[in-house]
Amino acid sequence: MNRQEIYRYTKEWVYEAGVILRESVTMDLEVEYKTSAADLVTEKDKEIEMFFVKKINATFPNHYILGEEGTASDQKDYNPQHEVVWLVDPIDGTTNFVHQKRNFCISVGIYDNGKPVVGVIYDPISDEMFHALAGEGVYLNDQRMKLPSKVTTYEQALISMNHLWLAPNDFLYEQPIQQMATDIRGFRCIGSAALELAYVSVGRLDGAIFAGLGSWDFGAGYILLQEQGLSVTTLAGDGIDFFKPSSLLTASKELHQVVQSNYIRLK
Ligand code: IPD
Ligand code: CA
Ligand code: CA
Repeated sequence: MNRQEIYRYTKEWVYEAGVILRESVTMDLEVEYKTSAADLVTEKDKEIEMFFVKKINATFPNHYILGEEGTASDQKDYNPQHEVVWLVDPIDGTTNFVHQKRNFCISVGIYDNGKPVVGVIYDPISDEMFHALAGEGVYLNDQRMKLPSKVTTYEQALISMNHLWLAPNDFLYEQPIQQMATDIRGFRCIGSAALELAYVSVGRLDGAIFAGLGSWDFGAGYILLQEQGLSVTTLAGDGIDFFKPSSLLTASKELHQVVQSNYIRLK
C-alpha cells in the first residue's frame, strides 16, 4: 500500500466532495427521517457517499468501504483487521447541514490491517481541512499544527459534549455530568462529532465526550488525536475498536484521567 498516494487521493476527493456540498447549501434539499425526527438524511448524504464509493472502487478495487449511508451492506464478509478499510461519513452533522448550512464536515479515515493510516476532515464552509498521515503530524490546510499547550486541569477546560448527557439518558448518570458543567470552564455542543474531534486535535477544544458513535464518525478524528499524543478511549477507559459502534472520551492524558474518574458513571 502506498500511503502517500492514498493520502493525496483522499485529500483531493474530500476537497472535490466539499465543493459539491458548498454549492448545495443554497439548494432546496430533500430531507428524510432515518430513525426519528432528530435523525436526518438528505439526498446529498447519499450522493457524496456514492461519489467516494465510485472513486475508491475505481482506484483501489481491493479496498473496503464502511459508509454511514450503508455502503458496507452489499460487500462480502471480510475481516477489517486484515484489509485496507475506508471509514466514510459523507456529511457529519447532517442536522447542521439542513438547519444551519454550516458546522458540518466530510470525514474519511483509512485503516490498514487494523492500524490508523490517514485521517481527513473537511469543513467546506470555512474551507478548513484537518488532515494527517500517521506519523507525520496534524495539518490544518497547509499548516502543521502543534497543540498550543495541552489543558490538564478541569477548571481550564472547554469540553464538547451532546446536551443529552445532562438529562436522564440510557448511557451515563447525568448528575456527575451536571457537576462537571459547573466545574469546568465551559461546555460546547457543536453537533458534528468528526468536527469536534478535529477541533480537539488542534486545541480549539480541550476534550470531547461521545456515546454511540459509528466508525465513520470517529475514524478520521482518531488519527488526528493520536498524532497529537492525546488520550482516546471508550467512556469505560478501554481502547477503541475501530470497526464497531463506540463511545469515546478524548483529552490530554491528565484531563482524560480526571474526567473519567470524577465525572463518568456508566449505566
Ligand atoms: C451525528 C453527529 C452528532 C453525533 C451523532 C452522529 P450525522 O452524525 O456526529 O454530532 O452526536 O452521534 O450520529 O448523523 O450528522 O452524520
Ligand atoms: Ca456521522
Ligand atoms: Ca452522516
